[in-house]
Amino acid sequence: MKTIMIHEMADHVGETVRIGAWLANKRSSGKIAFLQLRDGSGFVQGVVVKEVVGEDIFKTARGISQESSLYITGEVVVDERSSFGYELQVSDVEIIREAVDYPITPKNHGTEFLMDNRHLWLRSRKQHAVMKVRDEIIRATYEFFHMNGFVKVDPPILTGSSPEGTSDLFETNYFDEKAYLSQSGQLYMEAAAMALGKVFSFGPTFRAEKSSTRRHLIEFWMIEPEMAFVEHAESLEVQEQFVTHIVQSVLENCSLELERLGRDVSKLEKIQAPFPRISYDDAIEFLHEKGFDDIQWGDDFGAPHETAIAESYDMPVFITHYPIGIKPFYMQPHPDRDDVVLCADLIAPEGYGEIIGGSERIYDYELMKQRIKEHNLDEEAYKWYLDLSKYGAVPHSGFGLGLERTVAWISGVEHVRETNPFPRLLNRLYP
Ligand code: 4AD
Ligand code: MG
Repeated sequence: MKTIMIHEMADHVGETVRIGAWLANKRSSGKIAFLQLRDGSGFVQGVVVKEVVGEDIFKTARGISQESSLYITGEVVVDERSSFGYELQVSDVEIIREAVDYPITPKNHGTEFLMDNRHLWLRSRKQHAVMKVRDEIIRATYEFFHMNGFVKVDPPILTGSSPEGTSDLFETNYFDEKAYLSQSGQLYMEAAAMALGKVFSFGPTFRAEKSSTRRHLIEFWMIEPEMAFVEHAESLEVQEQFVTHIVQSVLENCSLELERLGRDVSKLEKIQAPFPRISYDDAIEFLHEKGFDDIQWGDDFGAPHETAIAESYDMPVFITHYPIGIKPFYMQPHPDRDDVVLCADLIAPEGYGEIIGGSERIYDYELMKQRIKEHNLDEEAYKWYLDLSKYGAVPHSGFGLGLERTVAWISGVEHVRETNPFPRLLNRLYP
């Protein structure tokens, strides 16, 4: 007899198979027991009928406690009532290990309790679905960039530089030197783009930000493409095509998960490039018209501002050309204005906030030197970076997409803490 995984059941209808599984939940009467089984690849119902299996097996099945590990044997049958489409008519049950007093029961638990038990909470249907969506986004990301001629490059995690400002760095000792955990691989990706043309990275980044909002993690994963000979406008086109590709891939390959998450897929189905663009200037004017008196030209947007802007579209929206004073040192100035830079943030719909930050980069050596000075950055640490504008500099652009915020938006979960398997949050390093 074959041991198979739940996701393979469609190919085994009418056969008797064995699966390794955990008991997620169960209900039973005197004659029949319904076991909700999961094996990581999916969820399936096992039906145990006393008359079929006999007294002993039925008693075993009825007595299985939540999260006990099992080998279950049965016939795969079509079940049109379940969205999975199949169930298992159980003929034998073997308990591998019993789980006693599993802490997460089907009742409601508070968030703190669930976060303390994140290592177990991951087993739940909802968390399982979110992790599958995350995996699909990762898969589709590699697919998109490899399809479009990008090379994957891995920037270092231990660095001597701080591309996004010096205020939220994790400092550590690097033998006799100071080092920081990477807050963005961008500067290294710029060097890589000058060697390989179009590159992308995908790795963990760290921000010692004292923020505890639904959008902030201390450690998050970022996808950072960088493109030589690509100017601002073309970079936006790559971004909207990339985001369209990942949304459409999730719709195609995660329909069961989106259903389990209760996601309104009609909102995702609309996501198609091109995305609308609004300038920072117009966004400020729009906010004033909407009655936001708390923001002036030159201020950065807060979450309520971003949400108000996003609400006027059913598509992600680019806010372009931010004031130079609120953006990092490396952004290319506007050719006709010295107060704004060639950049854009992509704001997701439904209140999920900024999912991409990107820009064209400065490639003039003198200007780059001046900007590094103005930002009080240590010129010694940026000597190698300055070499990029010294030797054969070209116009180039890039961006960073935050994986967890994107997973939150596409899955429709409220908080980014559910989009990373073991989220690092303000005041939370456990488990
Ligand atoms: O806008 P950010 O800070 O941009 C950069 O780091 C650039 N160097 C990227 C580049 O051009 N290569 O971050 C990019 C994205 C944000 O839009 C957001 O999605 C995500 O990273 N992000 C966070 N996600 C979760 N928690 C945080 N604390 C985040 N900070 C940024
Ligand atoms: Mg940003």
